[in-house]
Amino acid sequence: LLRTKIPEGLQQLPGPKPIPLIGNVLEVGSNPHLSLTAMSERYGPVFQIQIGMRPVVVLSGSDTVRQALIKQGEDFAGRPDLYSFQYINDGKSLAFSTDQAGVWRARRKLALNALRSFATIEGSSSEYSCVLEEHVSKEGEYLVKQLSNVMEASGSFDPFRHIVVSVANVICGMCFGRRYTHDDQELLSLVNLSDEFGRVVGSGNPADFIPFLRFLPNRTMRAFIDINDRFNAFVQKIVKDHYTSFDKNNIRDITDSLIDHCEDRKLDENSNTQVSDEKIVGIVNDLFGAGFDTISTALSWAVVYLVAYPEIQEKLHQELREHVGMDRSPRLSDKSSLPLLDAFILELFRHSSFLPFTIPHCTTKNTSLNGFFIPKNTCVFINQWQVNHDPTTWKDPSTFSPERFLNADSMSINKMEAEKVMLFGMGKRRCIGEVIGRNEVFLFLAILVQKMHFHEVPGNTLDMTPEYGLTMKHKRCQLRASLRPRV
Ligand code: HEM
Repeated sequence: LLRTKIPEGLQQLPGPKPIPLIGNVLEVGSNPHLSLTAMSERYGPVFQIQIGMRPVVVLSGSDTVRQALIKQGEDFAGRPDLYSFQYINDGKSLAFSTDQAGVWRARRKLALNALRSFATIEGSSSEYSCVLEEHVSKEGEYLVKQLSNVMEASGSFDPFRHIVVSVANVICGMCFGRRYTHDDQELLSLVNLSDEFGRVVGSGNPADFIPFLRFLPNRTMRAFIDINDRFNAFVQKIVKDHYTSFDKNNIRDITDSLIDHCEDRKLDENSNTQVSDEKIVGIVNDLFGAGFDTISTALSWAVVYLVAYPEIQEKLHQELREHVGMDRSPRLSDKSSLPLLDAFILELFRHSSFLPFTIPHCTTKNTSLNGFFIPKNTCVFINQWQVNHDPTTWKDPSTFSPERFLNADSMSINKMEAEKVMLFGMGKRRCIGEVIGRNEVFLFLAILVQKMHFHEVPGNTLDMTPEYGLTMKHKRCQLRASLRPRV
């Protein structure tokens, strides 16, 4: 970057002085969301660090992030060619690969359409408003039964271990038209041991930037490669089965709809075939991966927060009793009458900021931000954790207080406050599963809070320190739960 001539009128980026070969790796440390937030206080909302020999621009502050991702969206819409990304979905990931803008745009549109048709489109049956509601309602009931059974057999349970299977079943239902039991070893080995994935892909992993680290023995990296291999094999087998049983007149799920798209395209002489079949059907791999890890992390945190704040848990349960009752299950349409639950979820997203950085971005051309010059192909980290804990935006940012999102009458959400929370990115690369994510977390949580009471195992204190990664997890723990009485 230093060698690139800075155009007249623009300034060179501020930032800490790098050490030869390793750059600022030591200052970034093992909790980049905290260290880079502290650096933003010193250097401002746009600054540069160096990881190894590679410059990385770090963006903080809501206004600056909005300026970059929305107003200058095209300039910041790329993905960097990071070492670990080549292992995800065989290097053909929609979310992580360096696809050219045209290919990425076409795939993103296909993914959005597939999600709409098989998750959120209204009127799929008379009983449920959409397929997502049907899957979550059923899996929510199974989850309550499963937790009760485990409580009876063992006296405590690990929340992530069970929630992840229920959440994986929802996305498996939509993508592959199948579900798994809570003891299915093949699914468990994929979804329950995925911590290494997030640890390697999280922003600032030194091995992504410093080539010689890749040749040192590294248990996490080996586990990461193994998980990706197993993940790809799992999806490929299901895709192969779908090709064998494919029937154009009976499109069963997202995989079928993507296969159908490839078939249609072959018949259309005018179609633009720059996107390979593999890259089209491979979209399902991204949807499955993104669809279980994010939501199960959110729900597992939610249960831990319920236990850590028992008086809030009680108020949430009372809200459900009053507005839904105990004779029927909650529905997505109950959202507007459950403002405290809505506020709890917003505060959970803000306070935990369990996706502390977006997936790294990359500039697509020479550009500038706040008067600083940023060359083409610069890796850019977006610090969502900082946006959600900025003391200039939030009163007492480290306090967990769902009420901050309620209007004065406590009957509705303050939309202006709600929009300040940043967890799904924004602009061109914004998460395509946001509606699904928000609705799924709401409905699972409504079912759990209505039917169960969660509490600590006496003598075990909760450790809520997050473990850094693409998605930050709480430490594995044991909790207790009991069924709520109907009256
Ligand atoms: C991208 C958050 C659920 C699919 C992202 C990004 C974030 C995010 C922060 C990166 C944005 C950026 O790089 O600027 C979340 C959260 C979720 C969630 C917090 C749940 C609570 C889902 C679900 C799906 C999904 C359920 C699909 C079924 C994707 C995809 C991308 C993405 C495909 C890549 C988009 C692109 O690169 O163009 N998500 N996500 N996400 N998400 Fe989500």
